[in-house]
Amino acid sequence: MGFVGQSVPRVDGPAKVAGTTRYVDDLVLPHMLHARTIRATIPCGRVTAVRLGFDPTGFTVVDWRDIPGRNCITHITDDQPCLVQDDVRHVAEPVLLLAHEDREALLGAEVQIDYERTDPLLDPLRSTQIHKHVLIQCGDLDAGFRAADLVVEGEYRTGHQEHIYIEPNGVIAVPGDDGGVTIHGSLQCPYYVHHALTTLLALPDEKVRVVATELGGGFGGKEDYPSVIAGHAALLALKARRPVKLVYDRAEDMWATTKRHPSIVRHRTGVTRKGELVAMDIEVILDGGAYVTLSPVVLSRSCLHAAGAYRCPNVRVDGRAVFTNTPPNGAFRGFGAPQSQFAVEAHMDRVAEALGMDPARLRLLNVLRPGDATATGQVMGADCSAETVLREAVRRSGWSRKRKAWAGTDRGIGLALFRHGAGFTGSGEVRLASRCTLTTCERGVRIRVAATEMGQGAHTVLAQIVADALGVPLDQVEVAVPDTAEVPNSGPTVASRTAMVVGRIIERCARGLRERLGALAPAEHWRRHGPLAVTTQYEPPPGLAWDEETYRGDAYGTFAWGCDVAEIGYDPVTYEVKATKLTLVQEFGRPINPVLARGQIEGGTAQGLGWALIEDVVMRDGGMANAQLTNYVIPTTLDTPPMDIVMVENPYPHGAFGAKGVGELPCNGPGPAIVNAMRHLGLDVRELPATPERVMDAATRRAPVAAR
Ligand code: MTE
Ligand code: MOS
Repeated sequence: MGFVGQSVPRVDGPAKVAGTTRYVDDLVLPHMLHARTIRATIPCGRVTAVRLGFDPTGFTVVDWRDIPGRNCITHITDDQPCLVQDDVRHVAEPVLLLAHEDREALLGAEVQIDYERTDPLLDPLRSTQIHKHVLIQCGDLDAGFRAADLVVEGEYRTGHQEHIYIEPNGVIAVPGDDGGVTIHGSLQCPYYVHHALTTLLALPDEKVRVVATELGGGFGGKEDYPSVIAGHAALLALKARRPVKLVYDRAEDMWATTKRHPSIVRHRTGVTRKGELVAMDIEVILDGGAYVTLSPVVLSRSCLHAAGAYRCPNVRVDGRAVFTNTPPNGAFRGFGAPQSQFAVEAHMDRVAEALGMDPARLRLLNVLRPGDATATGQVMGADCSAETVLREAVRRSGWSRKRKAWAGTDRGIGLALFRHGAGFTGSGEVRLASRCTLTTCERGVRIRVAATEMGQGAHTVLAQIVADALGVPLDQVEVAVPDTAEVPNSGPTVASRTAMVVGRIIERCARGLRERLGALAPAEHWRRHGPLAVTTQYEPPPGLAWDEETYRGDAYGTFAWGCDVAEIGYDPVTYEVKATKLTLVQEFGRPINPVLARGQIEGGTAQGLGWALIEDVVMRDGGMANAQLTNYVIPTTLDTPPMDIVMVENPYPHGAFGAKGVGELPCNGPGPAIVNAMRHLGLDVRELPATPERVMDAATRRAPVAAR
């Protein structure tokens, strides 16, 4: 049939275009209440009193004492309370929940909270409370530095980034007659929420049901936070015995929910005169915020990408995610890798500068090739395309010519080489033990997986894979709503894992079903014999080995690769830098749906551009001071330059039809490519976002044109 590799229209497209898709805030249930969260306004201290300044008749009021199970949002650890008991650790921490039939009455209700304030810890460099420590070591660092002709040091910083999914966080909780609860919500990972709620509510698995409604984007921001908001709505619903809708407005979403971890990364690098990397000493510090949440795994991915796409015999990566009195930072497209690769790529250009060498040439000398090993000892195979993407990006962008021609002008060109580990880190996928089911139905076959469609095209891609593996037309394949009562746990929709990992399981599942069906079409089999279900579980690719204790082995099943070349224009009067053209060469196995893959590259790149240049989260006294879209701006189409996109194909044998993941890869490139283009025009910027203010600082330090 051949649907894989074709840009078939997305399965969720018609309803979205026609406006009939119903998001959580479009759902109205009989007797439904609206809800509101009362939050702490101090970053650190103790609640001494909570006083209601309204008549509580008609209100449902919930505080920590109403929690039937344990007062925690359980995930990696249990340190984050669902509702404040005494201690406040960050601004916007939830204290009290209110529900009422009438939204106006709800908004008018006043609550007074008294505090005993203590001094907050806001500087991650002064934090001694460590959420997670990671150490990666290979070779002999001292020997490496002894062999170096030149040592280059530097510190690189990045700020918070807010997800700005179109649809803010929201859920509806519906109490069941059996004392259980059903959640309908805008969330990436139904089973994460399910797990958190069984603990919070002390309910058995079968009494909690989580249904993912259509998502208006997630970008990692709906990976862990929905467990918080779902917990809140569920507590209110169970107390009120009525459905409760809790939907944040933009300001609350920006102020209270997770962001990309700010980072401070330090490099000390030894190179020979010829440009060979001989020692890399890297320190990674991520600001985790007030609770652990996902910081351990974000840090882990950050450290595993910190040495970039290079071979170096002697490496140390020492990373820590630290506590501060700020709202917990969480998953954001790239999951720590963009931060550490910003640093290594900005640093590589400084190393090149110190050597008086072309930055592309320095990279070419050191790029990981098949047979080379990463710092964890992972040996690259034929799935390593670092050199290919680098050469193609340099050739295609006209790098050498522009690099020379633009010297001394106000145009710059810079590049960044990067990789992104696809799927969960280390033994993560083995631990998840994901399962997928296919069931015959009237239309043909139904895909039952927990993978959510958040705009990335997961459901379309899975349908294409099943259609081809089963040998049926695409219109005979349907995708079930991700509902824990209906779908097995195929794992969370994160880590760009859906096409590669879930896709591979469902592909094997389809081949299994094909055998069971014999010569019959699925719908025909269904008519004659009723529904037939086949379930398949994840199997790791052969030969993968990972040691969590020593951080040695295969950190990822495979990596996707990219090289971005950014061309910029610089306005010396306003200090604005604008990307004028991007060349994006990326390899992620084989695109299942080229138009959707291209959309991922365009969108991820735009998000990376925003992080690089304009998205500036201003923190004041531990809270986001610019929590509005009027002063936290993201790129629009007018800020997005022409993108010359090349999708290099290198099918990965253990992904569905050769797929790796493309969802996050593109976010890694724009930050460093842009600052490297700034360096080309003499601007030494080492911190993102490179706002006009920071560029002005760099410009006042800029060497006069004649001296360059
Ligand atoms: N694309 C759109 N349109 N909307 C999103 O929310 N999330 C990104 C990426 N692309 C996202 C997106 C993130 S953070 C991840 S991890 C992947 O999609 C997850 O989807 P996948 O597993 O299907 O790649
Ligand atoms: Mo994506 S940050 O792994 O949800």
